[in-house]
Amino acid sequence: MAISQPQPLLLPLLVSLFFLPTALGATDFHNCNPLRKYPVKVKTVEISPDPVKINTNGNITITGSTSIDIPDGATVNLNLRRYDVLISNRSYSLCDIVACPVASGPIVVNFFNVFTQRELTPWGYFVSISITAEHQEDPMMCVSFTCRITSEQTSLL
Ligand SMILES: *[C@@H]1O[C@H](CO)[C@@H](O)[C@H](O)[C@H]1NC(C)=O
Ligand SMILES: *[C@@H]1O[C@H](CO)[C@@H](O)[C@H](O)[C@H]1NC(C)=O
Repeated sequence: MAISQPQPLLLPLLVSLFFLPTALGATDFHNCNPLRKYPVKVKTVEISPDPVKINTNGNITITGSTSIDIPDGATVNLNLRRYDVLISNRSYSLCDIVACPVASGPIVVNFFNVFTQRELTPWGYFVSISITAEHQEDPMMCVSFTCRITSEQTSLL
């Protein structure tokens, strides 16, 4: 019976799509509110190393582009959730993290050694990172993604 013969090309295609972001060192992310158009459009989120190891911490780098200038008083908010439980919620001044002023165009936001000692526990977090201008409620940027943390000391890769 040839009726249900599988498409030979489909599986390799799915596999390569699935592994492509990892191969490029980028992490899957989505906008916090998929229906909103944020003025700061995120292109990549990179976690290094991925997964983060509990003994060495990790960095997160977001690259994107902003269609408008980001005012100096803006706040960067980073929060960590495990399932629905908010574990940490911290805020930084934008100018402590990126070179201000931020004119329209490309933007790179780096977080070095993201986790506190207490937060470095296996499994990981749902991370949300947003940028909000002073006296505004709607963020200019908001992405969320999963960050894995492992207690393994060496990577297979
Ligand atoms: C994280 O950033 C710090 C500071 O630039 C650097 O020394 C460290 O090597 C980075 N860690 C990783 C895993 O990229
Ligand atoms: C995190 O803290 C900021 C500033 O204190 C606050 O505006 C925001 O609502 C908090 N987020 C959550 C998820 O509690």
